[in-house]
Amino acid sequence: MATPKLEDAEFRTFQKIIFKEAGIDLNDTKKILVQSRLLKQLMKYGFETYTEYLRLVQINQLEKTEMVNLLTTNETYFFREIEHFEFLQKKILPHYRPKGKFRVWSAAASVGAEAYSTAMLLDSVLSKTNWEIMGTDINTEVIQKARVGLYPESWVEKIPMDLRKMYCLRGKGENEGKFLIDRSLIPNMSFEQANLLELSSSLGQFDLIFLRNVLIYFDNATKQKVVDGVIDHLHAGGYFFISHTENLNMINIDQLEQVQTAIYRKKG
Ligand SMILES: C[S@@+](CC[C@H](N)C(=O)[O-])C[C@H]1O[C@@H](n2cnc3c(N)ncnc32)[C@H](O)[C@@H]1O
Repeated sequence: MATPKLEDAEFRTFQKIIFKEAGIDLNDTKKILVQSRLLKQLMKYGFETYTEYLRLVQINQLEKTEMVNLLTTNETYFFREIEHFEFLQKKILPHYRPKGKFRVWSAAASVGAEAYSTAMLLDSVLSKTNWEIMGTDINTEVIQKARVGLYPESWVEKIPMDLRKMYCLRGKGENEGKFLIDRSLIPNMSFEQANLLELSSSLGQFDLIFLRNVLIYFDNATKQKVVDGVIDHLHAGGYFFISHTENLNMINIDQLEQVQTAIYRKKG
């Protein structure tokens, strides 16, 4: 059987679905990417065209979730954009006076590297009763991986040596070549599937929110909706981190003041 080819009209339908479901604005240069990421689903079901797969996605919610999983880009690593972790360590934590738990939200958490990097820093200076971290992502598969906290050994290299010694366990047996996040951090962490377009008020309020390397996938109207929704969950005086490769130039951020590049604070 010849490899199925994604036709322009089929691609436009996938573009519409992923935009509606996740707000992701897949431009026309992404056609080959969509074709190759979804090919394995065609193989799985024995479909010869993307139209057959589209029909399935449109009637089957589980397959739609799988399609969203396949079309999101989940690249991440520990201590990514180290400036944010230095700011947390040097500028935020020294001024923190316990009045409740210090709550952090990794709002596009992927497999959890951002959340666990933060957990290592918080746990090394705060008592276990004084912090908690939530990680959310639209992709159900990465959330499962984040809950497990098992990573390829090469990922450990980005973790500072002192924290590596305290919080990373070398995998043995079937986990050879991997490392596991120390279980002592797990009770303070939770990972849930959540769509940034449809946030629930039950998330509560946070002292620090990471929304990094996800705004690039959104158009300006979606960016505005997502940023407004996310900062509704930020305490007054709380911190908001975006990626150094992203900006908020084209949206209204009256509620925020910029502290330094890619770091904002909620007014009030
Ligand atoms: C490139 S990763 C960024 C991971 C991490 N924040 C970092 O900076 O390393 C982007 C993540 O955003 C998630 N994402 C995309 N659209 C989303 C949406 N509408 N709601 C929630 N998560 C979304 C993707 O599934 C992906 O895991």
